[in-house]
Parts: sequence; structure tokens; C-alpha cells
Amino acid sequence: MLTPMEQEALEIQGLKILVESLVQYKGRMVGTPAAYTPTRFSKASDTNKKVSNDTLNYDQVFIRDFVPVGLLFLIKGDFEIKLDGEKEVSVKGHEIVQNFLEVTLELHQQERPQTFLNTGRVLMPASFKIKKTGGKEKLEPDFGQHAIARVTPVDSSMWWILLLRAYWKATGNTTLVHRADFQEAIRLILELCFSDRFDREPTLLVPDGACMIDRRMGIYGYPLEIQVLFYAALRSADELLDRKNYTNKDIIPAIEKRLGALANHIRDEYWMDMPRLNRIYQYNVEEYGAAAINKYNIYAPSIPYANLDQWLSEESGYLVGNLGPSQIDFRFFSLGNLMAIISSLVRKDQSKAIMELIKQRSKELLGQMPLKICYAALEGKEWEIVTGCDPKNRHWSYHNGGSWPVMMWMLAAAARKVGQEFHDEEYTNLVKEAVEAAGKRLKKDEWPEYYDGQSGHLIGREARRNQTWTIAGYLLAKELLGDSGLKHLELLKFNEKTYRKRKQ
Ligand code: GLC
Repeated sequence: MLTPMEQEALEIQGLKILVESLVQYKGRMVGTPAAYTPTRFSKASDTNKKVSNDTLNYDQVFIRDFVPVGLLFLIKGDFEIKLDGEKEVSVKGHEIVQNFLEVTLELHQQERPQTFLNTGRVLMPASFKIKKTGGKEKLEPDFGQHAIARVTPVDSSMWWILLLRAYWKATGNTTLVHRADFQEAIRLILELCFSDRFDREPTLLVPDGACMIDRRMGIYGYPLEIQVLFYAALRSADELLDRKNYTNKDIIPAIEKRLGALANHIRDEYWMDMPRLNRIYQYNVEEYGAAAINKYNIYAPSIPYANLDQWLSEESGYLVGNLGPSQIDFRFFSLGNLMAIISSLVRKDQSKAIMELIKQRSKELLGQMPLKICYAALEGKEWEIVTGCDPKNRHWSYHNGGSWPVMMWMLAAAARKVGQEFHDEEYTNLVKEAVEAAGKRLKKDEWPEYYDGQSGHLIGREARRNQTWTIAGYLLAKELLGDSGLKHLELLKFNEKTYRKRKQ
């Protein structure tokens, strides 16, 4: 464990890196790059050399990566910090988040690159950089047209709406939120509720790698992460759209209708616990019509009963990773499950069951570095077929069962929310212990992007150092676990809502 003094020094060091890495556009601070390579940290740049000299796109501001940084700035507000060898600088946390929201909005509304013209205005870019030509600055977005494997960043727009809501909660700046361009952006993103599609589910059909897991990992179809972020974005929009604005008159009821359908679908169909497993175990197949119980025609040999029988207990449960025709992806995806708790996509009893699973399986899920991105890892033939033999995603590495410290903030928020609902801080205490132990390693290892190995002992082979969302994930978790944690939680969480079930 770190001593209180070491703890304080670590927090200051993390915050300093974030402040120092801030990117400027036309004189305003607009975000932080994914990873920061400070020239004067010679030790850090030495370790970076072991990784790769190629920055790829890690010098860009990613929408999803900036979210924890932005949330931290919202909590910190205005503060002074002394950068090494310089005098104190004042940082205006709220203003930085506002700048980020405005700049990304500008990107959203500007003309799309030709390869992405048909995405409508639903997408926000994955990332952007500032290009300087002839003394002029220009924003250069990446909607996936440059990204490795040309993946589509479906999650970006949803994270953007979530950050906008947190900003609004922190500042009360309704004038900005109700501004015509902001209202239009929300409407355009959530045109998703109206758009004609080939599928009939309330969930969203997306390609592989459309979210934090932005490589081929067998998550095409209806991955949990996207559905949860969609739900949270819809809940946010429901609060942010101006009801007095006539242009919003059709979208608000559409959002409310979709919220109910989506929540009921996920709560029923994605839920996995012992009673459900037992029911699925007894399924008949090839059922036709409205009375079908095995709606997705799941075949018994595709279900890892033996593993699930060990993995689950009578008290635990979780949301499965994906659901489609004759397919349930039984992997546990942490981001989706935690954000489902935070956004109240799941009911209170389900939230508790998920935290119970994390507690009972803490050796596997929290390990030496919270938190595993998913469990279990794909191995052998399955890895070959599903990832396309991706060496970066070998078992227990990177997206395939690697450990991502950024997710500590979601873990902390979920634990606090369940703790508050059940007047029991058991999960909060578990998470506190895990986060404190992690702090010591993050300091020594210089804030890596991810860790490898079944217990998260190894620094990811290709992990960048000074990864900004690692720093923010840890600092934000500390804030959420601290004395004012419940107040900060208000920026993120949604209250439970029940929805009437409609006849199919
Ligand atoms: C990797 C991650 C992605 C992240 C990006 C920048 O591509 O998979 O989630 O946004 O790096 O850190």
C-alpha cells in the first residue's frame, strides 16, 4: 500500500501529466492525447522505446479516451498546479470540457470524408488531431477512414452525449445544452431511433470493433457495450432535449418508446444467472411462432454449461456479451456490465448480482490489476478463427482478456451505486482495496495502457506509457471512492426506471 504522502504525490503526478499533455486549438485547451510522451521524462521515453517508436494514432484526442479525463476535470473544476520547473498554472476544468464538446461538435457538423458519407450524422469521429499548415490550425477527424482495420466508432457519439450530460450536471449550463447546434447534434445522433434498418430488435446492429474493443474480436451483431451506451445516451438525451423546442416534438416520444423496449429486452434476454441457465439447459429447439421459448434457437452444444456452472453461484449473475440467431456470446464484458449498473439499464437486484459475481470472481476479474476487459480469453482454434490470428489479441492479452486500468472508474462508480442502494459498502471496500494496490504498480510502471496475463501481472507487451485514460481512470476512481464520492456519482448515474411491457 502507498503511504498517504506517496498517495498524494502520485495523484499530483498523474494530474500534472494530464495538464501538461493538454492539446491546444486556436488558443483553447481542447483535450488530451491518448498517450503522452513527455520529452523531459527521459526514463519514460526509454521505457517507451521498448514498446514501439511508432506513435500510430496515440497522439490524437480520442472521444472515448477523453471521457474519464473530462469527468475528472468536471470534478476538479478550477485548480492550480505546479508543473515541473515552472510556476503554478491555473486550470479551468469546466472550460476544458466545454471546449472539447464544442470542438467535437464542429467535427460532427462538418462535411464527412467521402468513404463515410453514408453514415449520416449518427457518427462522431473516433479521434481527431490538430494539423498546422502555413501557420493555420485545422481539425482533422478520423471517422475510421484511417484507423487500423477501418473500424467504425459507433460508441463515440454515445460517449459524447454522456459527457455533455455530466457537464450539464456539474455546471448547470442549460444555455449551452439548449443551444441550437447542441440540440441538433443530439437529434442527429439519435436519428438511430427512426432510421430504417434490416433488423427488428430494439438493440443496434453494428460491425465488429465498433467500440473500445476496436479490433476483430467476434463482437459484431448486437454487442452489449454498444447497447448499454445506447441506452445511457437515450436516457441522457431525454434529459437534455429542450421540451419547449418544437423541433424536438417527434424525437422525445421516439426516445421514450425505444428506452422501454431496449431495457426490457436486455433485462430479459441478455441476463444470465443460475435460474436462467437452468431454463436454457432445458430448451427445445426449432420452435416457430409467438409462443417460442427458445426465441433465438440456441443449440445446447454451443453453451459452455460446465464452465458457467462453476463460474456462477446462486447469488451472482451478469449480462452476456452478445445475442443473435443461434448465438449467445457467454463471455463477461466488463464495460457493458458496469455501465449497465451505472445507467440503471439493469434492475437493482441484477446490479447487485453483477457486483456479487465480481466479488466472487475477483481473482480472475480484478486480479493484480483491475479490470479484465473480458472473460474468458479466446484460445487456440477459436482465437485463430474469431480474431483472424491477431497476435496483439492473443489469449490474456490486450482486448482478449487483458486488464485495463481505465475501467477502475466504472468499477468504483458501480460499487458505490450498489452500496448506496443496498446500504452496504462491502463492494466499495473490495474495490477500494484493489484500486489502492493498483496505484503502487501504476506509479512504478508509468501508467501503462493495459496489462497482460491471466492475473494481470505483466505490463502489456505493446502498452503505451502515460496513457491518459489510465491516469484519469485511476484518479477518478479515487474521487468516487472518497468522502465526496456519492456527490460525484450524481454526474454519472441514472435512477432505476421500470417500463411497461408491450405485447410482441
Ligand atoms: C486502442 C483501444 C481503444 C482506444 C485507443 C486509444 O485502439 O482499443 O479503445 O480508444 O487505443 O487509446
